[in-house]
Amino acid sequence: MKRIAVFASGNGSNFEAIAAACERGEIPARIALAVCDKPEARVVERAANHGVECFVFRPKEYGSKADYEREIVRRLDAAQVDLVCLAGYMRLCGEELLGAYGGRIINIHPALLPAFKGAHAIRDAFEYGVKVYGVTIHGVDASLDGGPIIAQRAFAYEGRDLDELEAMVHAVEHPLYIETIGKLLKEE
Ligand code: GRF
Repeated sequence: MKRIAVFASGNGSNFEAIAAACERGEIPARIALAVCDKPEARVVERAANHGVECFVFRPKEYGSKADYEREIVRRLDAAQVDLVCLAGYMRLCGEELLGAYGGRIINIHPALLPAFKGAHAIRDAFEYGVKVYGVTIHGVDASLDGGPIIAQRAFAYEGRDLDELEAMVHAVEHPLYIETIGKLLKEE
């Protein structure tokens, strides 16, 4: 059984979908570790509900990014993680993390990269007035939403309701992330 880690900073709906898929056996792995940089985030509660160990930290309590990433790497090593899945983790990966797990870290982004990078991708695309939206899963490097594209899924939307659009994006994200993680683990 492969072992994955899921990093998140907020709600954790992707975490929830991945955890449920592991429990159903749809992803041939278990979440060996969750990592969260915001103690008040909903994902912390979700991890507890699924019995998943969660490393929760406050970046400000560390001297530097390298310091907290060293701690994360120590925990990933201890949990013997094969693949790191970023799911709404609102930090760039630094040298420590990339040095130890580079090539084994993927991220999900709620737009068709390389368009609409950054933290407000859905709103940015909506305000731009695009007619085709989508989701990207990509390998992670040191850049913001950079790295090689692994999977994308697009859908058409011409409505003007941002809440409805956000719900549509999340509905595409969850199955795409589950399928992609499953494929990558089988390829290993
Ligand atoms: C998702 O839209 C993901 O693409 C982006 O952050 C959001 C996280 O949502 N990177 P959730 O916390 O999984 O609900």
